[in-house]
Parts: sequence; C-alpha cells; structure tokens
Amino acid sequence: MTLREIFVDAEQRAQLSSQKHGELQYAVAATRGWSRSDLLVRLNLPGDAGMQVLVERVAHQLADGYPAEYLTGQAAFCDIVLRMREGVLVPRPETERLVQMAEDFIVREDLSSAVALDVCSGSGAIALALAARLPQVSVMGMELDPVSVSCSRESALDMGLSERVRFVQGNVLAAWGLTVAEFRSHADVIVSNPPYVCGQRLAAAHASSPVEPVRALYGGTSGMVFYKRIIAQACDWLRPGGLLLLEIDDGLEQGILGQFKRYGLQGGRWSPDLRGLPRYAEAHRAT
Ligand SMILES: C[S@@+](CC[C@H](N)C(=O)[O-])C[C@H]1O[C@@H](n2cnc3c(N)ncnc32)[C@H](O)[C@@H]1O
Repeated sequence: MTLREIFVDAEQRAQLSSQKHGELQYAVAATRGWSRSDLLVRLNLPGDAGMQVLVERVAHQLADGYPAEYLTGQAAFCDIVLRMREGVLVPRPETERLVQMAEDFIVREDLSSAVALDVCSGSGAIALALAARLPQVSVMGMELDPVSVSCSRESALDMGLSERVRFVQGNVLAAWGLTVAEFRSHADVIVSNPPYVCGQRLAAAHASSPVEPVRALYGGTSGMVFYKRIIAQACDWLRPGGLLLLEIDDGLEQGILGQFKRYGLQGGRWSPDLRGLPRYAEAHRAT
C-alpha cells in the first residue's frame, strides 16, 4: 500500500471527520520527526507495516477527541511554539487577542520596563507570547496545576525567556500574597483567561474536547467564580492606571462590568471576538 492509501484506509476505519485529515498528517509527520511537507512528498511511496499501525492509532486518537497538540507535544500560539502535554489546556486562537491588547497598552504607555501578571497561566501561552514580543516586559504566571506549571517553565527555557518569565504554582482563589507578594501595587497589566464555562454549558464544552482537563474550563455554576476573585484582587495588585484584561464567555459581560464598578475599576468595557460575541473585558485601576 502507498502511504496515501494507508491514510485513506485509517481515516475510514476511524471514521475521522474530513476536518481532521490535515491534523492526522501533521501528527503522524511530527511523530516520525518529519515536517508535513516531508510527509506529503512520500505519499505515493510504499508505507511499511509500522507506518500502517501508527497512522491507524493516531486516526483513532483524533477521532476520540484527543488533541493533535498532545500527540505532537507542541502548540502554535501567536508567533511562538509551546510545549504541550496531556493535562495542559491547548491555547485557543481567540486568546491571541488578549496578547495584542496587553501589547498595545504597554506600547501606548511607552513603558521602558513593564510587569505583567498572567493569572491562570496554563501552558504559559499569554505570558510567553507577550514577553517574546516585548523585550521590556517581565511576566509572572500563576497556575494551580503542577503539570501546566512545569510545561510552561520548559517552554520558557526553550525560548530563552526564563529570566523574564516565571511561573509559580498558586491558587488564584486563595490569597495571592502567598505567591505573588512582590507584585503588590506594581503590575502594569493583569491578564487572565480563567476557567469560565458555567454549569449549564459544561457538558457541551467537555464533549467538544473530552480529553482536556475540566478544571481548565469550569468557572462555577454561574461561570463567575474566577472573575469575582480576580477583579476583587486587581486593585491591590495593579499600579495606579494599570490595566486588567480578561477573556470572558458571552453572557457574562454585564456581570463582569458590574464587578468592575463594585471594586472601583474604571473605564470598564467589553469587546467582541471575530464571531461578534462578547469575548474580552478590560478596566483600569484609577490613577
Ligand atoms: C482556560 S485555561 C487558560 C490557560 C491559558 N491561560 C490559556 O489561555 O491557554 C484556565 C487555567 O486555569 C487553571 N486553574 C484552574 N483553577 C485554578 C486555580 N484555582 N488557581 C490557578 N489556576 C487555576 C487551569 O489549570 C487552566 O490552566
């Protein structure tokens, strides 16, 4: 059988949706240490039995909802590549906008050195992408899950950013002073994509990616648990005029604007994602 026939056969047996055929090629190529084009030029060559077993196994994993990023050990985000492994949330494209918003603020303020906190940092995607873009920025990521913390530290090392980007294991819902005390009233930006799926939407969110950790998604019955805590803490950790940036779920925007007001943050507003749904919220600490 040619490699092309092996792929077609495995896709049919696993009933892999056509949207995932590209991911199958990408994951198989990465497992073999090839680029996708290395694989494409081999498609008309005969494939060996080992290749047949590999393609079939990967096709079934993808069909079962296993993210291609877990198979390749890598995820692309903004202009960086992150380490990835099971238990770590795969960063989503819509989160890239948060990096852009943080970057715009730091550039606009013309800060020669800036400090950012990435709360619920997961793979370290936001922290590392921001630091990679702006050499004047130092970032501290706070994350509960030890696997995510070590994965993000490894990515920081890979990228030569471990001097400026640190990750600590900490519970955002507990006292922040234990983990990020040194940043009190000093952060120029606090950015967070916390767990925000509400109880009603959790089953659907989990079904769309059944292998990813529920801990990374569930934001309590109303979806607001993490926002309430982060917004309540923001005034203590931001410097006057500092910016709080949040990724949010649609339907939560009014509740979040209400929390901004309650804790005295100013200029609160939300903005939409590419589908037009409320996805980002921001506010400033008063100057
Ligand atoms: C939606 S994910 C976002 C990860 C990453 N910032 C990103 O944008 O890809 C939320 C993250 O919050 C972490 N998390 C859950 N509960 C937490 C807690 N109590 N304290 C700190 N982090 C927590 C999860 O492990 C997960 O990595």
